[in-house]
Amino acid sequence: MTDPKLRVLISSERIQARIREMGEQISEDYPHGNLHLICILKGACFFLTDLARAMKRDVFVDFMGISTYGKGKTSSGEVKVTKDLDISLEGADVVIVEDIVDSGVTLSYLLHLLEQRKPRSLAIATLLDKPQRRLRPVQVKYVGFQIPDEFVIGYGLDYAEKYRNLDAICVLEDSAAVKA
Ligand code: IMP
Ligand code: MG
Repeated sequence: MTDPKLRVLISSERIQARIREMGEQISEDYPHGNLHLICILKGACFFLTDLARAMKRDVFVDFMGISTYGKGKTSSGEVKVTKDLDISLEGADVVIVEDIVDSGVTLSYLLHLLEQRKPRSLAIATLLDKPQRRLRPVQVKYVGFQIPDEFVIGYGLDYAEKYRNLDAICVLEDSAAVKA
């Protein structure tokens, strides 16, 4: 890949330290019963694997694929499930694991969808939160870092499917297209 100009916003060390804290917190909050971590593909899979290993109890891991249309063009946004869960959520404590909450459109849709699967409880853990961008209110129980309104990449987050494997969260400084 040609080397774009990257500015590190959150280092790998800070990410890992914060995830360890989050893992311990979630383990304390859910000491008993079945706990399901639902990874929202693809971006959150890096966060999920580190978070799950930072937890002091066993968990079920499952994956959901979502695609969002019309983002930045329409405020309503259209959300489509591209891969559904394999394991039933009935009676379980469920934590949705997301890379970033931006407009909130994806997660408000997902909360509504998963509530119908009759979990015992349903909460959200996100590594990053951009509260300034919110169009739909969503209650986020666990936030790794609040960040300003900048487009970020790395640690799972992509720009046109690239940069997911960077170990830090970075801002892409020299791409005008990102702002579009
Ligand atoms: P929301 O529905 O607007 O909250 O969208 C959340 C999704 O948009 C995330 O799961 C990401 O896939 C994507 N997204 C939002 N902000 C960024 C960013 O700064 N970098 C990369 N992807 C982003
Ligand atoms: Mg995503």
